[in-house]
Amino acid sequence: MGYLNETNDALEVLPYFNGSLSQLYLVKAKNSLIVKSLKPLYCARNDTHNRFMEEVRILKNLEHERTPTLVKYALQKSQSYFAYQYIDGTPLETLLCNNTLTKQQSIDITRQLLSILSSLHERKQPIIHSDLSPANIIYTKEGQVHLIDFGCAKQLDSDNDVAHTWIGKHAYLSPEQAQGHPWNTSSDLYQVGLLFYEMLTGKRRNQGTSIKEILPLAANPDELNIDHIEEPYRSFLKTILSNKIENRFQSAQEAILQLIT
Ligand SMILES: Nc1ncnc2c1ncn2[C@@H]1O[C@H](COP(=O)(O)OP(=O)(O)O)[C@@H](O)[C@H]1O
Ligand SMILES: [Mg+2]
Repeated sequence: MGYLNETNDALEVLPYFNGSLSQLYLVKAKNSLIVKSLKPLYCARNDTHNRFMEEVRILKNLEHERTPTLVKYALQKSQSYFAYQYIDGTPLETLLCNNTLTKQQSIDITRQLLSILSSLHERKQPIIHSDLSPANIIYTKEGQVHLIDFGCAKQLDSDNDVAHTWIGKHAYLSPEQAQGHPWNTSSDLYQVGLLFYEMLTGKRRNQGTSIKEILPLAANPDELNIDHIEEPYRSFLKTILSNKIENRFQSAQEAILQLIT
């Protein structure tokens, strides 16, 4: 763990999160950091090692005030990690569990997410996050939304304008992702729709309880029952949660305009 001490004047290093592919550490310091370290088994595997390198490449390019700033990285087959800015806040997952969000906060979080996505999607080489789920969104005390975990993200280029490999949390997949089709920036919008639905209703849109139930429901969602939701949020949800990409908003900016009351 020597590399952790080099990153800044670390006071303490604590195991923070044990993910499926990575172990995360919190480096407590004046400017605290998270170190995400690829587990040794996955360092040795080309597919996971390449994926990890892609996460670093995207973080390096991001430069957005609401996504984590990359501080340091090493990408050897023997040891791969990166250190990036710790965001002091509460994951949306916890806020949803505690059921403490007001309607106004739900709208505001959704707008902020769409605004982050707008700048990711409008880049010359758009970045698709692909894994907008409650654990990957952090809400600060000041009411700012931060988007983390670019582990499934894809940066598009002129030869490649769709994503099609690494998928995120099953209950938050868009139909095209769950069906195994290529997806584009519109899938990120769909995922924001799922989060907004959950914030407003207190219920996860996908009610499956096992992968066997969740995946088919993500691929072919049951009817959207939102008659009790007032306008303009009902129309907003209908559009952003359309099964067909062509019926959704065409951009994050278009979606934001619909949320303005
Ligand atoms: N920069 C960060 N600031 C604060 N918490 C973080 C940060 N990065 C990750 N976390 C926490 O660690 C968890 C796992 O990190 P994440 O990058 O999502 O890993 P995984 O790819 O395993 O999902 C997140 O859900 C979040 O709670
Ligand atoms: Mg995550």
